[in-house]
Amino acid sequence: MKKLITVLCQLLVGGTFLFSGLVKAIDPVGTSLKLGEYLQHFGLVGMADLSAALAWVLALSEFALGLLFFFGQHRKMSLWLGLLIMLFFTPLTLYLALYNPVDDCGCFGDAWVLTNWQTFAKNVVLLLAIVWMLFNRKRIAQWLVEEWFAFYFYAAMIVVAGLCLIGTRRLPYIDFRPYRPGVSMRQLAFGSRAPSASETLYYVIYEKDGVRREFLLDSIPDESAGWEFVDTRIVEPQQSQPAGKTQSLVLFDAEQREVTAEVLGDTGYVFLLLSPDLLTADEHDLDCIDNLYEYAMQEGYAFYCITLNDPAAVGHWRYRTGAEYPMLFADQQEIETMIRSNPGFMLLHDGVILWKSQLSGIDVPVLTSAKLSEQSYGQIQPIHRKKRVFWIIVWLIAPLFLYLPLQFIYKLIKNKNRKMRKKIVAGNWKMNTTLQEGVALAEGLKAALAGKKVNCDVVVCTPFISVASVVKAVEGSVIGVGAEDCSEHEKGAFTGEVAANMVASTGAKYVILGHSERRQYHGENNAILVNKLNQALANGLTPIFCVGEVKEERENGTFKQVIEGQMEALYTLSAEDFAKVVVAYEPVWAIGTGLTATSEQAQEVHAFIRASIAKKYNAAIADNTSILYGGSCKGSNAPELFAQPDIDGGLIGGAALKVDTFMPIIEAWK
Ligand code: PGA
Repeated sequence: MKKLITVLCQLLVGGTFLFSGLVKAIDPVGTSLKLGEYLQHFGLVGMADLSAALAWVLALSEFALGLLFFFGQHRKMSLWLGLLIMLFFTPLTLYLALYNPVDDCGCFGDAWVLTNWQTFAKNVVLLLAIVWMLFNRKRIAQWLVEEWFAFYFYAAMIVVAGLCLIGTRRLPYIDFRPYRPGVSMRQLAFGSRAPSASETLYYVIYEKDGVRREFLLDSIPDESAGWEFVDTRIVEPQQSQPAGKTQSLVLFDAEQREVTAEVLGDTGYVFLLLSPDLLTADEHDLDCIDNLYEYAMQEGYAFYCITLNDPAAVGHWRYRTGAEYPMLFADQQEIETMIRSNPGFMLLHDGVILWKSQLSGIDVPVLTSAKLSEQSYGQIQPIHRKKRVFWIIVWLIAPLFLYLPLQFIYKLIKNKNRKMRKKIVAGNWKMNTTLQEGVALAEGLKAALAGKKVNCDVVVCTPFISVASVVKAVEGSVIGVGAEDCSEHEKGAFTGEVAANMVASTGAKYVILGHSERRQYHGENNAILVNKLNQALANGLTPIFCVGEVKEERENGTFKQVIEGQMEALYTLSAEDFAKVVVAYEPVWAIGTGLTATSEQAQEVHAFIRASIAKKYNAAIADNTSILYGGSCKGSNAPELFAQPDIDGGLIGGAALKVDTFMPIIEAWK
């Protein structure tokens, strides 16, 4: 039951954030206008310039948080972040509900307008759901594995950023506002509240910020909101054509005469250049406006610019553009409702919106090449909103299913790379076997391998004393031979040491370097190992270079740094020399202990090492480097370990001392 409630909470919170982020992303201009209102109300006018950027940030971060909640990922972070956000917004929306500084909070953009009290209630529910989830964190369902989610997360974010971009550069992909192609502007302006023609209409004229508007008696504006009474107007029934104005769109001409009915009553084509503020209008594509105006004049179509009544802005615009077209004035918010771009165009025919577009969306040469009645620009260009909703859903859901095929292709490519690198099973006899035992073991192995199809390179690294004899014993077989160490010096007075050229002189081809036991008991560090590597390479030996963390380093999570630090010795090599090296990852806590790293743990480190090599050299070298796993590797666990994409074989201690235990590991390479 608790689980069910938790999952419902997660879907509710996730779904709400997703929806609210998405609708903001679809209409970023609308979002930024809303933010501007808030900033203005809270006296942060200086930040108004930021509202466009803030709209993006808000839309994307809400959507991102929605994804985390919905899919139950990064629970701790998303819950605390969600809590913080709700602790901020819940009191804020209570304030909005109590004092009504903005009409609607805009949390779902214009897609779903909530009253301020509804918003507050919604936030309380979300807050409670988040608190519930905080106490039931373990019960949150995680629908996708981490990599799958990570892939989907970025893909979905790209889609949402794309919607933001469309809404910013063009017009919202889905228009939540009423001014849409096919809609009658007369209907919008005069509304369904049309009183019967027999009624006499009483208008009151109010002014605010230099803009005059007419209102019906039953919708007189609030004087405390800055509206000042100017005049009244009475319209007799026979004059009211069309009658019954609501206050939605009122147009005035330069003489402050109301011309709404005249403009919208035009039965021909009417071009409307719309700009909520000419001062901030985009001044690209000014030619486009001129050409359209010229064309409209030639063909006898009406052409108006509808803008805010700001003489300075109009003067500036006329000066900048040489505009000759008539200016009409309307409420700024209403113009912003009509079109989200500044400026934008709308074409009416008989009062019906045929289309609207930002300037860059109009193909002016095509439009001006014929009369409107003879071309598609003269027709209603319907926008199928349902289709668009469908496509957004497809775009958002498709990447979810794209992951598996892409993962499959990725694996194919990886496997192809993998095929190129050598698979190796190498034995490390350590300080075991006398000369005779060693030779017998090598002969036994040779016999066991004879006539068998071997799918990997087989190597035995033996104590110095046996190297030469084992080389002889395995002659004519696939087995390669190596030493377990070599001196860091070339030659000379180093009693007890064996130089790399001596190893090579036996016919051995490999040498293990940096084994953890040598690091631990013989104080081998990077400086010594760099010398040994150079000696080995100078004498044509292939170093099998061991890296690996101790138990504490695994437990305290520093193992990747430790391994990277050990790899530094290899990174002193030129790319050409590095390409000759085999790397062996041997977690020290797994060596000879019977504890094996799980194949996932091993794969994680192998992939990490390969990525580190790619970073240091390049991807091709990284793809070609064989990385072996060592540490309690046996016939029973070898198949699973070797099945990992970045594990290219094993360095085997204990199990290499008997043919019976070594062979199954070799045979794990099917
Ligand atoms: P192990 O040793 O297989 O006995 O754990 C591996 C090694 O040290 O190379």
